[in-house]
Amino acid sequence: MNERAVRLTVNGTDRDVIVEPRVLLSDTLRHQLGLTGTHVGCEQGACGACTVIIDGRAQRSCLVLTVQASDTSIETIEGVASDGVDHVVQVAMHEQHGLQCGFCTPGIVMSLVAAHRAGIDGATAKHEVLDGHLCRCTGYVNIRAAIDAAWEAAGGGR
Ligand code: FES
Ligand code: FES
Repeated sequence: MNERAVRLTVNGTDRDVIVEPRVLLSDTLRHQLGLTGTHVGCEQGACGACTVIIDGRAQRSCLVLTVQASDTSIETIEGVASDGVDHVVQVAMHEQHGLQCGFCTPGIVMSLVAAHRAGIDGATAKHEVLDGHLCRCTGYVNIRAAIDAAWEAAGGGR
């Protein structure tokens, strides 16, 4: 079967998995580690639903093989809140009603959290970051309002 042992640090905890080289990181997160907050839509890099943060950078987990992620630090939507306190992006998405069905939401939150921590300005986040995500429900208006609220609330990022 040519399986490989891979160590991932996921949301601060070391996780050891055995995978075939062809297995996508999105599938390992969901099916082996039970982190189903990472959603899978297109599986070809177009929709952004599967976005996680790998070593500080937002990346589409459907375009990363699990073996490629060996020895990296991965953050998923389950790990964004700190000590039970939501990240400012999560708070803003909730308060501005930046979601409807919620399928796209974890990926958008992960990209925005990475952008917020990197000090990317709100205007760039609204255009370049959001451009990488498809939402079939909201028309993006309330997501943009959430970005404004998050960036105004913190003026920086954690
Ligand atoms: S499922 Fe990964 S980009 Fe769509
Ligand atoms: S809220 Fe339904 S796809 Fe975005």
